[in-house]
Amino acid sequence: MHYLSINGEQTLNGSVEISGAKNSALPLLAATLLSKNEVTISNLPNVADVKTLLKLLQNLGASFIHKKNEVKIDTKNVQSTCANYDIVRKMRASILTLGPLLTRFGRCEVSLPGGCAIGQRPIDLHLKALEQMGAKIELKHGYVVATAKDGLKGCTVIFDKVTVTGSENIIMAASLARGVTKLLNVAKEPEVVQLCEVLSKAGVKIEGIGTSNLIITGSSRELLSFEDIEVIPDRIEAGTYLCAGAITNSQITVKNVFPKHLEAVILKLTQMGFSFKEKKDYITIFPASKIKSVDIETTEYPGFPTDLQAQFMALCTQANGASIINERLFENRFMHVSELNRMGANVRLKGHSATVEGNTQLVGADVMATDLRASSALILAALVAKGTTRIHRIYHLDRGYENLEGKFSSLGAKIERLEE
Ligand code: UD1
Repeated sequence: MHYLSINGEQTLNGSVEISGAKNSALPLLAATLLSKNEVTISNLPNVADVKTLLKLLQNLGASFIHKKNEVKIDTKNVQSTCANYDIVRKMRASILTLGPLLTRFGRCEVSLPGGCAIGQRPIDLHLKALEQMGAKIELKHGYVVATAKDGLKGCTVIFDKVTVTGSENIIMAASLARGVTKLLNVAKEPEVVQLCEVLSKAGVKIEGIGTSNLIITGSSRELLSFEDIEVIPDRIEAGTYLCAGAITNSQITVKNVFPKHLEAVILKLTQMGFSFKEKKDYITIFPASKIKSVDIETTEYPGFPTDLQAQFMALCTQANGASIINERLFENRFMHVSELNRMGANVRLKGHSATVEGNTQLVGADVMATDLRASSALILAALVAKGTTRIHRIYHLDRGYENLEGKFSSLGAKIERLEE
């Protein structure tokens, strides 16, 4: 196993290229199950989660040529409809094959993902919506066994909560359903919007793209004609590097980004005293004369993303004064707190709320990565800590950050990947 060794108290400078969004690449790969032709997906992030989903699609019968940041994938010969436990347990997002498999084949068996480090993460809303569309859903031996012999049929679905992968699953299901599906309270994340745009170009009539209400006219199980796809930039990776600039109070530039997708993040960093230069596809962050404390509430897009909560917590340890962070989406997404506290942070938890004391001198320590985003908070903390930090279990980071140590090194960080 590998770990990261980071020497802190460095100033960063320079620029970093942001990769394609993992959370867009995954539903787009799942959506290729709806295509009648080979699909080329470029700007594909070279991360473990993408490889896991490709493996799952291959197990189902898909063939592909995968080069670092591009895949040509053909799902014509898919015959198996079983997403097995061995792969699903590695990556919850495998559940994204449920909607496409069921709508194309009229049956499928997908392993239940189970809980994860950041909470229970049920999929009840995915299942309820598919039942409304005419599916029979049974839970057998840890699998969702779904059948809809004559295919799914359009109906009206109201999501009780805004769910990203839930929306994506049902959007894909509706694309091949019979008749019109109305979806209310759909997630508006840029990744959901890209999926809609791709399906729309592939011939599905989708009204309301980018809003929380969609009207989708399905193709009655006729496969779609996909065009080539370029994955949108990863706003969470970009936000993580902006936080790296902020915590070290350095000037850095993130390239290949859509600044519009980072509005809530830029706004928070501006409140903290940082300034920015934005152009069409890059953002430069400039140091603050004094880093101010801030209050953060995670929420659905376009609000502040839960996937950047941990990184901002690390940053708040360097603010002048106490910050309050409320985590509204996941009940257990504070696993990084105890590790940050081991590095000298003073974070107190009460329910869904964390109080982060500022003006803290962090110190290097051995720490454990617990989930993908929690781990990146530890890297940020290590950048300003006195001495050396060793971050273990970094396979969590490899799930979602491409060439992490290469990118941080190019910004001047003293970071190495070493063997345990
Ligand atoms: C996606 C993202 C993840 C991000 C999260 C919230 C991907 C692959 N992952 O995860 O990085 O942190 O959105 O922005 O895109 N819920 C239910 N029942 C359901 C579904 C969800 O109660 O059937 C709840 C969840 O427990 C959570 C909230 O709804 O409290 C939002 O979860 P959801 O948007 O579904 O997260 P994911 O799609 O799993």
